Amino acid sequence: MLQEYDLTQLIQPLCGWFLQNARKLPWRDDPTPYHVWVSEIMLQQTRVEAVKNYYTRFIKALPDISALAQCEEDVYLKLWEGLGYYSRVRNLHAAAVQVMEEYDGRIPDDYGTLLKLKGIGSYTAGAIASLAYEKPEPAVDGNVLRVLARVSADDTDIMNPSFRKETEQRLRALLQYCCERTGSNEKNNGQEAGSFSPRVFNQALMELGALVCVPNGAPNCEICPWKDLCRARKMELTDRIPVRTKKKERRKEEKTILLIRDGDKIALHKRPAKGLLAGLYEFPNKEGHLSESQVISLVRSMGYSPLRIKRLTDSVHIFSHVEWHMIAYSVLVEEEAFATKEQKQRAAMEELVFADAKEQKEHYALPSAFAAYRKDI
Ligand code: ADE
Repeated sequence: MLQEYDLTQLIQPLCGWFLQNARKLPWRDDPTPYHVWVSEIMLQQTRVEAVKNYYTRFIKALPDISALAQCEEDVYLKLWEGLGYYSRVRNLHAAAVQVMEEYDGRIPDDYGTLLKLKGIGSYTAGAIASLAYEKPEPAVDGNVLRVLARVSADDTDIMNPSFRKETEQRLRALLQYCCERTGSNEKNNGQEAGSFSPRVFNQALMELGALVCVPNGAPNCEICPWKDLCRARKMELTDRIPVRTKKKERRKEEKTILLIRDGDKIALHKRPAKGLLAGLYEFPNKEGHLSESQVISLVRSMGYSPLRIKRLTDSVHIFSHVEWHMIAYSVLVEEEAFATKEQKQRAAMEELVFADAKEQKEHYALPSAFAAYRKDI
């Protein structure tokens, strides 16, 4: 059980291992509060390898909090295109505005104040406070829950909020104790020899979860700095711990995707400001799997005159809570010609923008759900 496990014995082997084995990652070069914040938001539910290039490009385009606060929605969504969970970047932007207005452009160093910012929960608040400011705060994500459940052979469901709370409390007490004992804290920025660094400790926990005590498949116990301290290993329980409640089954939705083509331009539609993929662009689409003739009538009702129709390949996209099962059609429509005034009005109501491949690539954020049809542009 985590409750009665002595955590102090874990520190030395863990931090020593990390200093030898830490990966070189772009956000580790210069861990300013802004850099830590952007990287930690990107890393939520997203693999390190996938994040690296996005992070570098994002920081180059928006190098500080003021640039992010002033950034237009379509621009920051484009920088996030393909990363998924787009509410993360919407919240990041909203919080940047909040920091400019309420905190004079300085990202707070206090855990409780950080929690008041949009999109910042206990994990991100702890990560910013510790990684950027060397505050003794824990940053507990799924990786940390897993490695601590394993080392202490705790078979509580790690998805249970009370286990997270307990883990946070234990780690906070440990970090505070270590900082007080060694005199290391934000004052010496963790640089003093022999001093304790919350930054190193928290990153080391994450790194152990990513490289050694991995989530899928068997952990690499042979190279683990806790190999002799790990109860799950000793009791041969690493395949049963962590215990995790099964996620709910995903809802399945059928969709018909339309690539409405006018010359070399394809129609796009901006999604509503709220809900799934809010504010991103999409190919026009309808619920259900429509037949060719239904699509032709639909396109007519949208104010366009179809000339040719072609079925494209089917595709499936999996979100966290829903699956889209898509069929698709390419529909060539008559060039810019609206036969009647009524058609023109209908087309205006659809609020489509027509953009060629280059314009789409440069300006319009199209989520990965539609990636299968990008090649058909
Ligand atoms: N996963 C979450 N945060 C991370 C970080 N700062 N470095 C590496 N992996 C992470």
